[in-house]
Amino acid sequence: MVTGAGGGLGRLIAKRLAEQGFAVCVTDLDAGAAEGVAAEINASAPENEATSAALDVRDADACREIACARRDLSLWVNNAGVLTTAPVWAQDDRTRALQLEVNAAGTINGTLAALEAFGVGAAEGTGPEGTDARPTRGPGPARGHVLNVASLAGLAPVSGEGIYAASKHAVLGFSLSTAIDLRRAGHKKVRISTVCPDGMWTPMLYEKLDDPEAAMSFSGVLLQSEEVADVVAEVARRPKLVRVVPRWRGLQCRLYAAAPSVAVRGAKLVEWVARAGQRRAAKRLRA
Ligand SMILES: NC(=O)c1ccc[n+]([C@@H]2O[C@H](COP(=O)([O-])OP(=O)(O)OC[C@H]3O[C@@H](n4cnc5c(N)ncnc54)[C@H](O)[C@@H]3O)[C@@H](O)[C@H]2O)c1
Repeated sequence: MVTGAGGGLGRLIAKRLAEQGFAVCVTDLDAGAAEGVAAEINASAPENEATSAALDVRDADACREIACARRDLSLWVNNAGVLTTAPVWAQDDRTRALQLEVNAAGTINGTLAALEAFGVGAAEGTGPEGTDARPTRGPGPARGHVLNVASLAGLAPVSGEGIYAASKHAVLGFSLSTAIDLRRAGHKKVRISTVCPDGMWTPMLYEKLDDPEAAMSFSGVLLQSEEVADVVAEVARRPKLVRVVPRWRGLQCRLYAAAPSVAVRGAKLVEWVARAGQRRAAKRLRA
């Protein structure tokens, strides 16, 4: 199951997973886009047929229903995300709520739905209350893998993207805490991974080449979504608690976050570097 897979990174994750032999279910808020991606995968003839479904990750019941209706669910990728840039006080209530609901609550909804379908915390053979869906996994210990797409914004402060950063910090905190709870409960075969990519050239950034509030998304290497999808596919095979893309940016962001007063004092310099990177990216991409 891949959320937000009607375009951008999610589309490529779904394609890579299909190439690896997963019978992928492509889901998105935009049902038509999800259907198009499933058709694209099936046209390239993977061994397992890809399917599609409309799924709004803000709807916890819908996440549970689709997870429990899926036979032998083994991997759930929480990829859906939204970004609005502006200082936090300049974002209206709806814009703030949307980022928290999709990025943070949506990831929590998807994770809990998958855990239930994997057999964590639910009596065998029962489905979400009020639905006909029933987990169909066989007997034995709960097993499965949840892979959450966070961001470097989950590791460090990000000027201009404060609400987004809050939502991605939530994803990382939730994922790691849940991984520990699973281990405490003896669920060794249920894994949670989090992938934290740097800025990536997807529709999320297409309109932001000239937006100074989005400069931090261009402060490192602007990744191609193919590179990130390859890493996600690798983590799908070999779960990893946290995988930063590229790895060196993880160290840089953690150092930046470890010295908040230096980060605040040095913000102007960091912003200057980020704006220069954004202008270079704009020039290159428009050439
Ligand atoms: N692009 C970047 O620079 C970047 C960097 C780091 C992390 N990320 C993360 O990568 C993930 C994929 O982002 P992307 O760059 O491909 O963005 P994108 O905007 O290209 O694609 C996001 C997808 O999510 C879907 N979506 C939005 N709201 C939804 C909802 N409520 N329910 C279900 N689907 C919904 C959209 O329809 C879209 O198909 C996101 O979690 C994003 O935060 C992106």
